[in-house]
Parts: sequence; C-alpha cells; structure tokens
Amino acid sequence: MNAPRRTPLLAPSFLAADLANLQAETERLATSAADWLHFDVMDGRFVPNISFGLPVLQAVARYAKQPIDVHLMIEEPQHYLAAFRDAGASSITVHYEACPDLHRVVQQIKQLGCRAGVALNPATPVSLLEDIAADLDVVLVMSVNPGFGGQAFIPNTLKKVAKLRELLLDTGSDALIEIDGGVNMDNAGPLVEAGADVLVAGNFVFSAPEGPVVTLARLRDHLAGLEMEAVAAGRWQ
Ligand code: DX5
Ligand code: ZN
Repeated sequence: MNAPRRTPLLAPSFLAADLANLQAETERLATSAADWLHFDVMDGRFVPNISFGLPVLQAVARYAKQPIDVHLMIEEPQHYLAAFRDAGASSITVHYEACPDLHRVVQQIKQLGCRAGVALNPATPVSLLEDIAADLDVVLVMSVNPGFGGQAFIPNTLKKVAKLRELLLDTGSDALIEIDGGVNMDNAGPLVEAGADVLVAGNFVFSAPEGPVVTLARLRDHLAGLEMEAVAAGRWQ
C-alpha cells in the first residue's frame, strides 16, 4: 500500500479522565498534543454501560480548544444529532449496528455541519460500508467491544484496518480511519502502518503516572520517529 501518510491525529478519550475535574482535564489537554477530544456517549442499551451525555458535553465544550469528536454508542442516534451539534460536537460518529437507515443519518450529520463518522463493532465486517464509504468523513474501527475503557486490544483489528484502507481507495473515499479501544505505545505503530489516521486512547493516556500531556507527547514523538523510518525505508511516500 502506497497511500500518502503522515503522523496520525491523537484523540484522548474523556471516559478515562478525572470526571470530577473536567474543567482541569480539558484545560490540560488544551496544552497537549491532542488533535481531537474523544467523547464517549453510552446509553445502557446499545452498550451495557452508561457514561455521560449532553450537559457534560456542553460543560467540556466551554473549555475545549480542540474539536470534540462525539462517539454515540446509543440506540436511535438520529433523535439526538442536532442536540449534540448544539452542545459542541465537531464530529459525530454513529454505530453501523444501531442505524438501519444509515444513509439518512449520515446525511443528517453532514447537514448539521459536523464531520460524519460510522463506527464498526469488532464482529462487523468493513465490506458492509462499500456503498456508503464515499459519503463518510470518518470510519471508526472498534478495537474492543464498545462499552468500557481499559479493555485489551483485539489483534484482528490490524487486518481489518488494512482491508478498510483498500476499500476506501477502491471507493474513492477520503474518510479518515479512526481506531478506538486498547490503543497504546505497542500497537500504535502497527496501526498506522496498516492505515490508521486517528488514534483514540483512554486508559493508556490518563492512567500513565506521567499524566496525559507527557504521554501524548511521547506517543506523538514515537509515531513521528516511525514515520521517518518508514519514509527513509521507502515503505511510505
Ligand atoms: C469504548 C470507548 C472508547 C474508550 C477507549 O467503548 O468507545 O473510546 O474510551 O478507552 P481505552 O483506550 O481505555 O480502551
Ligand atoms: Zn469511543
């Protein structure tokens, strides 16, 4: 694969932040290498967990300096798209598995002026996106089963990302490939080699003793180093 590459975007996930200090967390991320802020919404129905929703997003958006990437792990997301845009979302990602009318939902997100994303659970094949890939701004590949932070990365994700990269090339889609779940310093490089453009990281970033700012800077340096090596070796253009 010889698509043009660059260091991926980094999107720390608030799910792993100190939720009692969201202003401080948002402000320290403002000074970090984070490109997007990932905001996980769970309804206790689409996934077996409940996280946070619109009022918390509004509160975070007051202090956010980076675009907020909202990941809706909810049933019937079509009812809440405008509300999430109004609360501060720059991108809105819905789950393939939650949307029988996916094309309509994607168009609604775009009409709201947000980047439109579709997420795939680990058992959902990328081929199901063939007829909508060209309409998408983001495809989010879940590398754990959605619902909880801190789970182990599913290794098959690497193959899945490579397949998705091919599908995007074949369909002329310029959608970004975002990876979510269990991302860390060990799998970040292989993910980028396979074709990932955006890496979400929760526990790896917030549980590190050095804190998120240092950890994100280390991840960014690590990936920049790998990119230089790959370019020098002629693997990337
Ligand atoms: C899981 C969420 C993820 C989660 C990632 O359902 O979508 O965004 O916060 O957390 P880690 O990086 O800890 O797996
Ligand atoms: Zn997420």
